[in-house]
Amino acid sequence: MTPNAATIARWNAAEGQHWSRHQARYDRMLAPYGTELLAAATLRRGEAVLDVGCGSGATTVAAAATVGPTGRVTGVDVSEPLLAAARRRADGAGVGDRVDFVAADAQTWAFDPGSYDVVLSRFGLMLFDDPPAAFANLARAARPGGRLIFVTWRDADANGWFAIPLQVLHTGLGALPPMGDGSWASSRRRGSGSGGSRRSTGR
Ligand SMILES: C[S@@+](CC[C@H](N)C(=O)[O-])C[C@H]1O[C@@H](n2cnc3c(N)ncnc32)[C@H](O)[C@@H]1O
Repeated sequence: MTPNAATIARWNAAEGQHWSRHQARYDRMLAPYGTELLAAATLRRGEAVLDVGCGSGATTVAAAATVGPTGRVTGVDVSEPLLAAARRRADGAGVGDRVDFVAADAQTWAFDPGSYDVVLSRFGLMLFDDPPAAFANLARAARPGGRLIFVTWRDADANGWFAIPLQVLHTGLGALPPMGDGSWASSRRRGSGSGGSRRSTGR
């Protein structure tokens, strides 16, 4: 089966349409995480940046503004509806000349090796079928000494955004079915510890 087939299908159907429709609300909700992400990335003018799972392009466009006209930013995503929104956003922000969007699976896409100073992501790195393969692919895309900065959710139980509504539903409706294997919260991806999200940086 094609890697990430279920995720790709979902983000080109209901999930992608939902995120496109509620883009402004998601932008407001996720803005603090984007601010933290970009602060940690310490982007410099002229740098080349890869934004993984860029969605509708909020962080792609913010990164493009920071790297300036001599820099470049690639947004990669599997969702055509969200990439269409991202292209509109980049053009609207006047940074379309230094941004390109690639409709591809970041786990398998053949990026030019060593071509990015920075690989970053706001909640776009947690849905891979095969995380080791995906991170190896992203490492190949980064130049030697390049930086990886991302923010990602922890498992659902440790995350109030998800755990509290689930508890409320559980109280009203009784036992809920387990989250499916296509979910980022599936048990085989579970980490440990507490806290709702984690920012990771690497050099
Ligand atoms: C939770 S959304 C985050 C979107 C965006 N980064 C933001 O903060 O608004 C996750 C994004 O990852 C994308 N995605 C999921 N799996 C992917 C993959 N294998 N390769 C590239 N993008 C992927 C989805 O299409 C979706 O746009």
